[in-house]
Amino acid sequence: MKGIILAGGTGSRLYPLTSIVCKQLLPVYDKPMIYYPLATLMLGKVREVCIISTPKDTPIIQDVLGDGSKWGMTFEYIIQDKPEGIAQAFLLAEDFIGDDNVTLILGDNIFYGNIGHIDAIENHESGATIFGYPVTNPSDFGVIEFDKAGRAISIEEKPKSPKSRFAVPGLYVYDNRVIDIAKNLKPSPRGELEITDVNVQYLNDDQLNVIAIGRGSAWLDTGTTSSMQEASAFIEIVETRQDMKIGCPEEIALLKEFISLEQFNSLVDQAPNCQYREYLARVGREYAERQ
Ligand code: TTP
Repeated sequence: MKGIILAGGTGSRLYPLTSIVCKQLLPVYDKPMIYYPLATLMLGKVREVCIISTPKDTPIIQDVLGDGSKWGMTFEYIIQDKPEGIAQAFLLAEDFIGDDNVTLILGDNIFYGNIGHIDAIENHESGATIFGYPVTNPSDFGVIEFDKAGRAISIEEKPKSPKSRFAVPGLYVYDNRVIDIAKNLKPSPRGELEITDVNVQYLNDDQLNVIAIGRGSAWLDTGTTSSMQEASAFIEIVETRQDMKIGCPEEIALLKEFISLEQFNSLVDQAPNCQYREYLARVGREYAERQ
């Protein structure tokens, strides 16, 4: 399984913050936003990740994340000249994906809790798996309609009269056929290659698995200043209560055995004196005790 983080766009709703740095590098509590979607891919044991962003922001993101080797991963960077739609990612990353399956996650989406997404990423075989999450403002998203048996029967992009409260979060798990489907898409009236059209194609081919997300988990979209603030508060509350971090790439790299304890300890040594370093050091000690 390959992974793509789509981290471009204009971030206009976060202006003037996004005049300093792109949305995906803005802080969500104690980490850059992009750490969270990256952590989701890592939990699904995806080690080869392509990060797609704008001509201006790609070098900055590359500077922050590097080539992935410090976390036992490989990162590739691809520029999207204009935000011409989420599904364009599959055209831009065709060579990167090769013959593999691929998970696409949006760089401003945070997932917390067990919604079956880790298993879906790690064990995907064929077709597509997407998710449905009940929201108060479904018209702002792709919306899934279910029949009485819980099967998905329609998906509409930003409908004026939504047929359900279930929005499609920015996490999509596909087989390799997604490249051909993306190649045959026509731009929508707003000029974008729509991810909803990809999902509708899988639905029409009876190849779409939709996991409806219930209570006890969170999908946080951080596209506006207030949703970003809410996400920060959420992460702070859970992390402080449990003294465990959410979306910490170093920790996941160790626990998933992408890196050895020696490599992990050298990351701890390289970190400046701060709470994050103290946390990593404790994770390393506890890991060593369990061996
Ligand atoms: P949006 O939040 O829809 O758009 P945006 O990030 O440009 O923000 P705004 O509406 O405030 O101007 O995009 C969702 C995510 O997908 C976000 O991480 C940016 C990314 N994206 C791309 O990278 N390229 C694209 O062509 C599109 C449509 C989105």
